[in-house]
Amino acid sequence: MHDKQDRYAVFGNPIGHSRSPEIHTQFASQTGQSLTYTAELVELDKFNEAVSAFANNNGKGLNITVPFKQEAWHIATERSALAERAGAVNTLVIKDETLFGDNTDGVGLVRDLINNHHVNIKNQHVLIVGAGGAVRGVIQPILELKPAELVIANRTVEKALQLAKDFSDLGNISGCGLDALEGRCFDIVINGTSASLQGDLPQLPDTIFSENACAYDMMYAADPTPFMQWAKQCKVHQIYDGLGMLVEQAAESFRLWRGGC
Ligand code: ATR
Repeated sequence: MHDKQDRYAVFGNPIGHSRSPEIHTQFASQTGQSLTYTAELVELDKFNEAVSAFANNNGKGLNITVPFKQEAWHIATERSALAERAGAVNTLVIKDETLFGDNTDGVGLVRDLINNHHVNIKNQHVLIVGAGGAVRGVIQPILELKPAELVIANRTVEKALQLAKDFSDLGNISGCGLDALEGRCFDIVINGTSASLQGDLPQLPDTIFSENACAYDMMYAADPTPFMQWAKQCKVHQIYDGLGMLVEQAAESFRLWRGGC
């Protein structure tokens, strides 16, 4: 009789769109490891119970996606320095009585931009739209690459201002509302909102892109997202979705759980 397989999953709401199970199943097969990885729809007020039940049933690790990244930070009993600062966790490692929280989103985004798409961040003017759990994880790794400036713009301006304050010692970062972007332009525009999940996009001026700008949606879908379609209308040539980021952050999560892939 075989031992029960180690279980891994991604928790989110919604979750139907997730490609994490196929990515992790590939990693497992490429490295000859026996494990299961599923996508679990978690009720909005049942996150803690769902994590405990998973841990008690041979669960060894979780990815956390919208809207639970900040709750995952709270539930973690230990955190990496990066997750600690981000206030958001996208990876939980379950071991004995500990729940170790890390955030691999930033590493994933930066590796996708630099290694896969050859986008330079140093000395560039970078805009991130959104100020939720997804954005919190990517700010520090971007600031470490020394952009000329990083602007965080959000529909709810207070959240953008708070984020800029939380990371102000790490580089040239500022926060603003979406209206304040009128007349500004950026070399790299990253959509970190969850608007694409509702088939929506944040309201941005169509003059926001500098010449040769790059538009990046941290979300992904079977078809180009509304943000990507809009960037195309704005004549942007370099337009990417977040699938590469997903694969890169997944590789980092897999390494944390299994020690390399
Ligand atoms: P995530 O973990 O994906 O970041 P979240 O913490 O719920 O999810 O944050 C969602 C982000 O997307 C927020 O910045 C939200 O803006 P508000 O703070 O104003 O709510 C942003 N967002 C979602 N839908 C949006 C839309 N249609 N237009 C603009 N911003 C949107």
